[in-house]
Amino acid sequence: MFKTIIMWVFGVLLLLQAIQIDIPEPEVIDPKEVIQAPEEIMAMFKTSCYDCHSSETNMPWYGNVAPISWEVRSHIKQGRKWLNFQTWESYDEEKKQKLYKGIAKSISLSMPIPMYLNLHEEAKLTRAQRESIRKWAQSNIKEEN
Ligand code: HEC
Repeated sequence: MFKTIIMWVFGVLLLLQAIQIDIPEPEVIDPKEVIQAPEEIMAMFKTSCYDCHSSETNMPWYGNVAPISWEVRSHIKQGRKWLNFQTWESYDEEKKQKLYKGIAKSISLSMPIPMYLNLHEEAKLTRAQRESIRKWAQSNIKEEN
C-alpha cells in the first residue's frame, strides 16, 4: 500500500514536469537602458531585486522543478513585466514616476517578496538599507502641482 502511494506521488510529480511556464530567454542587455543610481543603491538592487526585476535571473535549481517552478517562474515573469531595472531607460517619464513611487512604497512593505527572502538570506535588507532605497526613490519623485 505504502509503496503504491509513493509510486503514484512520484508518477504525478514526473508528469507535472511536462508543464512549465516559459520565461523569455535573457534578452540582450543594452547598457544605455540600465537604470542609473548611486553605487550603493545599485548594489542592493542587484542582490535583492535583480532575480525578478532584471533580464539576468539567477535561476535556482528548484526553479526548474514543477510545481515549485510555477510559483518561481510566475514571480519572475510578473516581476519583469512590472519593472525591469535593465530596460528602465526605455520607460517614459510617467511610468518611471509611477515606479519611483512604487519602490518608495513597496520597499518598506512588500518587496522583496517574503517567500523569496526565506530562501535567499543574501537578499535580506536591513532597515537602514531599505530607508536609503526609499530616500533615493523619493528624491526622484517630482512634485505635482
Ligand atoms: C521573488 C521575486 C521578486 C523580488 C526578489 C523582488 N520583486 Fe518586486 N515584484 C515582484 C512581482 C511578482 C511583482 C508584481 C506585482 C506583485 O505581485 O506584487 C513585483 C512588483 C514590484 C513593483 C511594482 C509594484 C508597485 O506597487 O508599484 C515594484 C516597485 C517592485 N516590485 C520593487 C522591487 C524592489 C525594489 C525589489 C528589491 C528590493 C524587488 N521588487 C524584489 C517580484 C519580486
